[in-house]
Amino acid sequence: MTSMKPSANGRKSSKGAQQTDSVPNGERRPRLSSRHPSIDPERLVRMDRVRHVVGRPNDFNVVFVGAGNMMFGSDEGPWNHSFRFEHKLGPRLKVIAVIDPSVERAQAALQQKCDSFVVSAYQDTRIYRSFDEYVTSDADNGVPKPHAFLIGSPPMFRGSTVPGRDVEMQILKHFPGVPFFVEKPVATGPETELQDLLSVSKEIKESNAVCSVGYMLRYLKAVQMMKQIIEENNLTVMATIARYACAYEKIAKPDWWDKARSFGPIIEQATHFCDLSRYFGGEVDVSTVQAHSLEWDEEAGYLSKLPIDESEIPPEQRIPRVTSANWKYECGAVGTLIHLVSLQGSNYSCELQVFADGYSFKLENPYQQPVLYVRRPGDDYEETYRFPDDDPFFSEVSNWIDVIEDIEEDPESGKILSPFDDAVKTYEFTWAIRRASEMDRKTKEGRTKTVKPHLPN
Ligand SMILES: NC(=O)c1ccc[n+]([C@@H]2O[C@H](COP(=O)([O-])OP(=O)(O)OC[C@H]3O[C@@H](n4cnc5c(N)ncnc54)[C@H](O)[C@@H]3O)[C@@H](O)[C@H]2O)c1
Repeated sequence: MTSMKPSANGRKSSKGAQQTDSVPNGERRPRLSSRHPSIDPERLVRMDRVRHVVGRPNDFNVVFVGAGNMMFGSDEGPWNHSFRFEHKLGPRLKVIAVIDPSVERAQAALQQKCDSFVVSAYQDTRIYRSFDEYVTSDADNGVPKPHAFLIGSPPMFRGSTVPGRDVEMQILKHFPGVPFFVEKPVATGPETELQDLLSVSKEIKESNAVCSVGYMLRYLKAVQMMKQIIEENNLTVMATIARYACAYEKIAKPDWWDKARSFGPIIEQATHFCDLSRYFGGEVDVSTVQAHSLEWDEEAGYLSKLPIDESEIPPEQRIPRVTSANWKYECGAVGTLIHLVSLQGSNYSCELQVFADGYSFKLENPYQQPVLYVRRPGDDYEETYRFPDDDPFFSEVSNWIDVIEDIEEDPESGKILSPFDDAVKTYEFTWAIRRASEMDRKTKEGRTKTVKPHLPN
C-alpha cells in the first residue's frame, strides 16, 4: 500500500510538456484532457493545515441563501458549508444574513452557532424570508455589504429568469461583481427550461463574477492526481465507467423520491458522477445517450426498507431503482453509468474507472475514504493510493475563497474547477439520460400493449 506520493506520474516530471502529442504518422493532435481545468493535488490542503491570510480586510461578509442540510449539516452525509467556512476564514467570517422562507429553521441553526465558540461569525446575522426582503432591508438598515453569496437553496428556486427562481440574476442585478457559490445541480425544472438556464449562464459569464458550482468531487486529491497523470503523459481518455449505488434506507427526504420535486436520482444525485465522467471524458454527444431503467413497479424493483410512504407520491412520479446509461464523447471515447437505489445501511458504494492507452485508473469510495488504483504501461500490477482525511467540501470552498481574494501568485493555480457554464452541461447531460430511460420505458410499454402474448396451444 502506498500513500500519496509527491510526483503523480512516479517518473520524471514533465510539467513543461507541450499541449500537443505526437502520433505515429507525424501529425500532432491536441491534448483533449486539457479542456477542463485542474490544480496540483499538493495544493489541496487539509482543513487543520490551512494558514489564515494576514493583511486581508478583517471581515469576510457572507450571505447564506438557504439554511438547510447543505449549509448547516445533517446526519445524511458529510456536507456542511458553514463548518468549512468557519475553518477557512476563522474570526474573519461574518455571516451577515441568512435568507430562508423557513425562518424557524434558520433561527434554530443560528442559535446553535451562537451557543458555540464560533459566535462571533453569527451574533449579528439577520434572517430574511426572501431575496427581495433582503435587498429592501439592506438598503434601509445599513447592513454591511456582502463579499460573497453562498447559495444552498433547492435547485427549483434558482438557475432561471422567472421571478422567485432567479437568485443568480438578482445577485447580478443588485450586487454586480460580487462572487457566488451555488450548489449542484444548477437548476431543476422541465427540460424545456434549458434555454432559460443557458441565458442565466451567459449573463454570469459576461459579468465576470467569480462563480463556482458545488461539484466537490472534482476537488478530491485522488481526482486531481488522476488528472495530473493524464496531463503529464499527454493521454487521451478512451472510456469512463461509473457506478453509483446509494444507501436508500437513510434518504428520508420525501422530495428526493418524487420526480416532480427533485427530478429523479440521475439529475439530483448521479449528477456528481455524470460530472466526473465529463471531467475526464470531455464533452458528451448528448444525441448518443441510451438508457434503461428498472422501475418501482417491476418485480426486481421492490425495496423492503423504504424510509418514506411512497403511496403518497403519484405513481408516474416515483423514481427508478436502477438506471443504466451509455454514450459517446465528442472525442470518440465511450462512457457508461449505472446508478442504483439498492443499498441499505448508510455508506454509498461508488466507483469511477477511466481508461487510456496503457493506463487505467480506478477511484473507489470517493465519499468516505477515497482509494485510487493506477495501472501504468510496463506493469500488470496496480499501485494503490490512499488519501486519509481528504475533504473535498473544504477544498472547493477554500479554493473559491482563494480565487476571490486572489492570493495565489502563480497564475496557473487558483482555478475554479466547476464554473457555472460547465455545470450547465452536466445538467443537460443528466436530463438526456433521464429522457432516454423514460423513452425506453414508453417503448417497452407500447410493445407490451400492441404485441399479443404467444400462448401455448
Ligand atoms: N454537494 C453535495 O454533496 C450536496 C449534498 C447535499 C445537498 N446538496 C445540494 O444542496 C442544495 C440544498 O440541499 P439541502 O440538502 O440543504 O436541502 P434542504 O431541504 O435541507 O434545505 C434547503 C433549505 O432551503 C430553503 N429554501 C427553500 N426555498 C428557498 C428560497 N427560495 N430561498 C432561500 N432558501 C430557500 C428551505 O426552507 C430549506 O431550509 C440542493 O441543491 C442539493 O442538491 C449538495
